[in-house]
Amino acid sequence: MTESSLLSVKELRVLHAGPYGEEALVHGVSFEVSPRQTVAIVGESGSGKSLSALAIMRLTGPGMRVTAETLRIGTVDVLSLRESELRDIRGERIAIVFQNPMSSLNPVLSVGHQLTQAIRAHERLDRRRARERAVELLALVEVPEPHRRFEQYPFELSGGTLQRVTIAMALSAQPDLLIADEPTTALDATLQAQIMELLKKRQGDLGMGLLLISHDLAVVAHAADEVVVMYGGRVVEHGDVRSVFHGPLHPYTRALLATVKEMSSDDDGELHPIPGLPPRLDRLPVGCPFAPRCPMAVERCRVEPPSLDAAREGHEVACHRWDE
Ligand SMILES: Nc1ncnc2c1ncn2[C@@H]1O[C@H](COP(=O)(O)OP(=O)(O)OP(=O)(O)O)[C@@H](O)[C@H]1O
Ligand code: SF4
Ligand SMILES: [Mg+2]
Repeated sequence: MTESSLLSVKELRVLHAGPYGEEALVHGVSFEVSPRQTVAIVGESGSGKSLSALAIMRLTGPGMRVTAETLRIGTVDVLSLRESELRDIRGERIAIVFQNPMSSLNPVLSVGHQLTQAIRAHERLDRRRARERAVELLALVEVPEPHRRFEQYPFELSGGTLQRVTIAMALSAQPDLLIADEPTTALDATLQAQIMELLKKRQGDLGMGLLLISHDLAVVAHAADEVVVMYGGRVVEHGDVRSVFHGPLHPYTRALLATVKEMSSDDDGELHPIPGLPPRLDRLPVGCPFAPRCPMAVERCRVEPPSLDAAREGHEVACHRWDE
């Protein structure tokens, strides 16, 4: 673990009660995020990306248990915190933006009311000063006519403006680390690009770390420094974004990249969807979770799960056959 890590995650697990006792849904995820760094988590739907993000904030639902060898935000050991201490950490040290802005906003309260509440939860400001700060924040996230938006209710705003408002809420306590879980998937392409640009700009100004969860590999290639590829609740490949995207070592990463035109290394110009479906996290096969869909699978893959090992400097892969 490096001294300056904003977030250190080692062997993170999310467990829940299954029919035969406790079972893991997320199996030993490890990565770090440093100031100003963007780490992206990619993988198909149901691979455990959001569950891992929620576990980091200790926001997984009832019936789930989070364990880790290390789960530190700065120097704070997240797993040892009480609920009241967690509330202080959330917002001030680490904040999250979700795909659907309405999941973070209350439909019956005005934007301004919610923003000033968020600000005053972390800073002792009188009403007038909190209001000024809220309008400043709206301007910071490039909401047009911030004074007018302050008075409005969520239903009066467009999807793009709503997402800007939730980013303003997340930035209100100047967190060290922002988790953005599919922050742009609900928006059209132009707005997606604008919101990503906004996040990167604010990250630059504030020196935040960004943990970006995204389906969109083109966005990740553009925005991230490091990428974590998840499959079946595990990390299957992890490294510098250029190294992973230009020289993917895991058959799953190669398959994912082949689904994106700009990133496919195949010369035929065709897109290649990955055959089959990802496994349910509570119904994983015994060996490598990708074996049922992997064109390179051999008998060993069906019985022995591969461990995540360093293949090159700063590039890890979990596959028995990565070097073939
Ligand atoms: N209590 C639970 N019991 C069993 N499975 C669960 C439970 N909670 C979540 N899951 C499973 O975990 C998976 C959740 O994964 P998660 O939400 O992290 O996926 P994701 O990678 O974020 O996918 P998406 O891209 O669709 O957002 C779901 O497929 C769900 O089936
Ligand atoms: S371990 Fe085997 S099944 Fe899994 S990705 Fe590698 S070759 Fe494919
Ligand atoms: Mg998700």
